[in-house]
Amino acid sequence: MTLSSAPGKVYLFGEHAVVYGEPAVPCAIERRARVGVQRRDDGKLRVRADDLSLDGFTVEYDGTTEDGPDINVSESLVSAAMGYVDGAIEQVRDVTGEDEAGFDVTIESDIPLGAGLGSSAAVVVAAIDAATRELGVTLEAEELAERAYQTESHVQDGQASRADTFCSTTGGAVRVEGEDCRTLEAPDLPIVIGFDGGAGDTGQLVAGVRELRSEYDFAADTVEAIGDIVRNGEDALADGDIEEIGRLMDFNHGLLSALGVSSRSLETMVWAARDAGAYGAKLTGAGGGGCIVALDPTPETETALSFTPGCEDAFRAELADEGVKRLE
Ligand code: PMV
Repeated sequence: MTLSSAPGKVYLFGEHAVVYGEPAVPCAIERRARVGVQRRDDGKLRVRADDLSLDGFTVEYDGTTEDGPDINVSESLVSAAMGYVDGAIEQVRDVTGEDEAGFDVTIESDIPLGAGLGSSAAVVVAAIDAATRELGVTLEAEELAERAYQTESHVQDGQASRADTFCSTTGGAVRVEGEDCRTLEAPDLPIVIGFDGGAGDTGQLVAGVRELRSEYDFAADTVEAIGDIVRNGEDALADGDIEEIGRLMDFNHGLLSALGVSSRSLETMVWAARDAGAYGAKLTGAGGGGCIVALDPTPETETALSFTPGCEDAFRAELADEGVKRLE
């Protein structure tokens, strides 16, 4: 068996706007997806995912569910998760030239699914890395990130940026603008995450912003304004100015709300964090539900969030300096 892990991420700045060529700065966090891969002789793909908040199920390549589970998230999320694994294995077959290769794939993840923490990118990066190595091929980071991006882009009907997959591959804080992806120096950030227990539909939310942007000038201007915030955010990161980073996160959240991708529970958590004295707080990822990210070196925000109605989980997240890890 070959085993790789890859981290999830939070967006410090720039989600949604990055889809239209503005820069974004995601930052990898120490919450990981671990993917174990073993070659099969019969060419089939068998996926076991015990810990994707899915209660455990097994899927054969033809998509039939084998270990009839109590799936506790929507069917669409389950099939989306399987779509990512399928897509990752297609990339592996393509890059290795082993068109008929079959695999047993086991996924474990401590990243909530579809909640803005990059769970799908982490699974895809770790799956491609482990499955190629299982076939004796070790990909360079650049190729791995590109193959993972192609997978996400395909599953999301072409509506994906390189941000999640690049960040999950390299770790650390990164800057992504179109095809230009690079790592950034970042101070040690006191990241606190609040999770409402739900998930947003990335495809739908991205499509919603696209529509708004084509219909209203304010929305196109808002996307550009997010780009400006990201550029200011890069300076603040380079200066290690956590107060300014927090202030810019607050602005960024306001603009995401204007684009219609926030939700009541995300707003409640963002304001609970601000009231508790966080330097700043914003939703992370596609929005619609899921997670917020706040900056607070004291325990106040985490405590306040854990008592906030609608917040199911509050936790501190270390920045993950290392991206994909080759474990076995
Ligand atoms: O919610 P996530 O982690 O899938 O992030 C989506 C981020 C978007 O900018 C909305 C889309 C993208 O692919 O960049």
